[in-house]
Amino acid sequence: MKQYTVHSRLGDYPVLIDTGLLRDLPSLLSGMGWPSGSRIALVTNPVVLSLHGKRIGDSLLSAGYRLETLLLPDGEAHKVLGSVSSLLDQILALRWERREPLLVLGGGVTGDMGGFAASVLLRGVPVVHIPTTVVAQVDSSIGGKTGVDHPMGKNLIGSFYPPKAVWIDPDLLMTLPLRERRAGLGEIIKYAMIGNARLSALLETGIQSLGGEPFDEALWSEAISESVSEKSRIVSEDEHEGGLRMTLNFGHTFGHALEGALGFGGILHGEAVGLGMLAAARVSERLGLSGGLSERLLFLLKAAGLPYQWPRDVSVEDLQKFWGSDKKTQGGRATIILPVSWGKVMMTRDYDQETVRLALSDL
Ligand SMILES: NC(=O)c1ccc[n+]([C@@H]2O[C@H](COP(=O)([O-])OP(=O)(O)OC[C@H]3O[C@@H](n4cnc5c(N)ncnc54)[C@H](O)[C@@H]3O)[C@@H](O)[C@H]2O)c1
Ligand SMILES: [Zn+2]
Repeated sequence: MKQYTVHSRLGDYPVLIDTGLLRDLPSLLSGMGWPSGSRIALVTNPVVLSLHGKRIGDSLLSAGYRLETLLLPDGEAHKVLGSVSSLLDQILALRWERREPLLVLGGGVTGDMGGFAASVLLRGVPVVHIPTTVVAQVDSSIGGKTGVDHPMGKNLIGSFYPPKAVWIDPDLLMTLPLRERRAGLGEIIKYAMIGNARLSALLETGIQSLGGEPFDEALWSEAISESVSEKSRIVSEDEHEGGLRMTLNFGHTFGHALEGALGFGGILHGEAVGLGMLAAARVSERLGLSGGLSERLLFLLKAAGLPYQWPRDVSVEDLQKFWGSDKKTQGGRATIILPVSWGKVMMTRDYDQETVRLALSDL
């Protein structure tokens, strides 16, 4: 078992990673101060419930927990305030109490909404994340960002709310569709490119297996725990995104705008991040800040089975419409993160539209 500790102003929390970890769920819960007999709200979605939730629920019931299963709708299109509001209605109807935990089981969409609900319910109830997608295991479950989308843009409503713990079982990924698993590799490549040398080495030799079938459990466990160590380290140092945590947005300014331009759901988040990193690498090369990075990245994206061609119908103007509403925008111009070498990125607002246009046309 691997364990990392994330430092947070509202309390440090452990991230545990182990295959088969959930077999021991009752003892994990009682270790957190929720012994048998406690009420637990399992917050999940119908897809994850049928694949994994029933088994988890049964193990809790047979250990004597009082289980309430609450469903959020599946899909980014439902990551909206209305879904959180109905979840809160259901929990409040149970006369939930402040020390009773939410156990949030699912991908980033479920995690972001479940975490947000926990942060506002009774001004904050404990939440434990059990992430079930690659994106959720290596990224969204760690760091305490919660929230929902708004017609004005992604993740515009939300809170910083650290969980009490994150329990990661890489085995849960076995049921994940290949396309989703590959999309998660977009975020893992990001950790390599912003500085994790061990991940870079692992990807160099393992990217094809990670992006292929059958599911390579040992390799995935390693990639996940290395990614978790990177994310934990960064958010521990800079929880509220004053500086270092901004580097995690590498690939995301272009990526989010691309998601927006294609309509949410038109491209998977991790796929958009892959293309966003490629765009950033090309901008960096056009500005003379680096050389050859886009090629190395292109190799990884291809080998991972991720999209590597910029959609033809998305122009700089389309992207800019979405930059305007990005949370990281100041004075209408987005701060972008550019790679300067493999393993090093910088933040800048010093670029012009023409450079970006040319960089995108290179793709
Ligand atoms: N809070 C953060 O710091 C943060 C970081 C990164 C991403 N995010 C957010 O995460 C979301 C994307 O998350 P995602 O990629 O996990 O998407 P997702 O939650 O929509 O999951 C993808 C699909 O896989 C299904 N699924 C989940 N687990 C499964 C499993 N084990 N087997 C089979 N199917 C499974 C889901 O039901 C869904 O249909 C975005 O909304 C993004 O904004 C948040
Ligand atoms: Zn992301």
